[in-house]
Amino acid sequence: MANFKVTGERKLGGTVSIGGAKNAVLPILAASSMISGEVILHNCPLLSDVENTLKILKYIGAGVKREGSTLIINSNSVSKSYVPEKYMRLMRSSVLFLGALSSRTGSSRMSLPGGCNIGLRPIDLHLKALADLSAVISYDGKEVCCNAEKSRSADIVLPYPSVGATENAILFSVFLKGKTRIINAAREPEIYDLCSFLNKAGARISGASGSVIEIEGVKKLRPLEYTVMPDRVTAVTFLCIAASTKSALELKNVDYTCFKSELCALMNMGCKLYLSEKSVAIKPSKLKRVKSIATNPYPGFSTDCQPLIASALIKAKGVSEIKEAVFENRFEYAKELIKFGADINVINNKAVIKGVKRLSAANVECKDLRGGAALVTAALSAEGTSYINNIDYIDRGYERLEVQLSNIGADIMRIKNEEKRK
Ligand code: UD1
Repeated sequence: MANFKVTGERKLGGTVSIGGAKNAVLPILAASSMISGEVILHNCPLLSDVENTLKILKYIGAGVKREGSTLIINSNSVSKSYVPEKYMRLMRSSVLFLGALSSRTGSSRMSLPGGCNIGLRPIDLHLKALADLSAVISYDGKEVCCNAEKSRSADIVLPYPSVGATENAILFSVFLKGKTRIINAAREPEIYDLCSFLNKAGARISGASGSVIEIEGVKKLRPLEYTVMPDRVTAVTFLCIAASTKSALELKNVDYTCFKSELCALMNMGCKLYLSEKSVAIKPSKLKRVKSIATNPYPGFSTDCQPLIASALIKAKGVSEIKEAVFENRFEYAKELIKFGADINVINNKAVIKGVKRLSAANVECKDLRGGAALVTAALSAEGTSYINNIDYIDRGYERLEVQLSNIGADIMRIKNEEKRK
């Protein structure tokens, strides 16, 4: 297990280039298994979640090659419709192979997916969507089986705009004859990116980024070259780091239109932001509280950015309130932030944060990916040397975070457990 050693209170400065979006590349990789021939994907970050998805692709028979941030996938020989438990448990998005492999081979079998422990995270909506398309679903207590032989297009009404269920429904319906409509679909920009990728491969999907998505079935998808959209959560992470360390930073390769709610929150906190087509700059400023932020499905404030904004608010003047309305268990990181001297009181799905003047170094544990990034943010603005343990979580969603932060002046190092004891 690796850790970060961080000495805080350094002023950061410079430019950060934001890589491809984890939450876009993962469904696009699942979709690549449905395409015979070569898929060339640019802007694919080197993340453990991406590498684990490539393991699934290799297991089912696809050829996979990485050249820098470009992935070349060849799914000509995909034959298996089963994903072993050792891969399924690594991340939540492995469940997207349920839709993709059923589409490709006519059936699929896999155990329930793993992922960050941020709530119950059932897959009932995924299964309901596929069943609405006449898939025959069974679960024996260990594995889910999906038989797509008699499936046909239909209208699906999602009771909640689940990102994963929307993606699974899209993947499953690409080859279904006739028109499928997903009503109350999730509207996240990564869904738009998945649909753009599929449309470039010959699919006929319209309405993505709205709440009704229509899919006209096609017979096959063709090889293509595609560039994955930039990661909006990584962009917000660096903005929160800049805000909390009172640093000036410029982010390149971003699309700020995908994180407007989060930018509004930062502006309300007093951050000075300068937006242009592909970059966002932030200048140091005195942070003030925000009265209330509530997470919601897109275009609402992103639940993934909730821990990040909290880590900036812990030093903001006044009392702020954050309500988590997407996941049930997304404040685990708060107990760790308190070890830095933060004043946070969590009551059910609400966190009340009283800004403090100083944070001091702490020895803390990552409990999940974005909560882990929030601990890094706190350590960077705390006095003294902190240790952040369990950073495997952070590696799931940030490409060599310590290198990116060192490049802008942070004092951060990756160390092994043994080195920590020295
Ligand atoms: C995706 C993102 C994740 C983000 C989340 C919400 C990826 C790889 N992950 O996760 O980073 O935090 O969207 O923006 O894209 N739910 C059910 N039943 C289901 C499915 C979901 O009850 O069948 C619930 C979940 O438990 C959760 C809520 O719906 O409370 C939102 O989940 P969902 O939108 O599906 O998120 P994910 O696709 O898992």
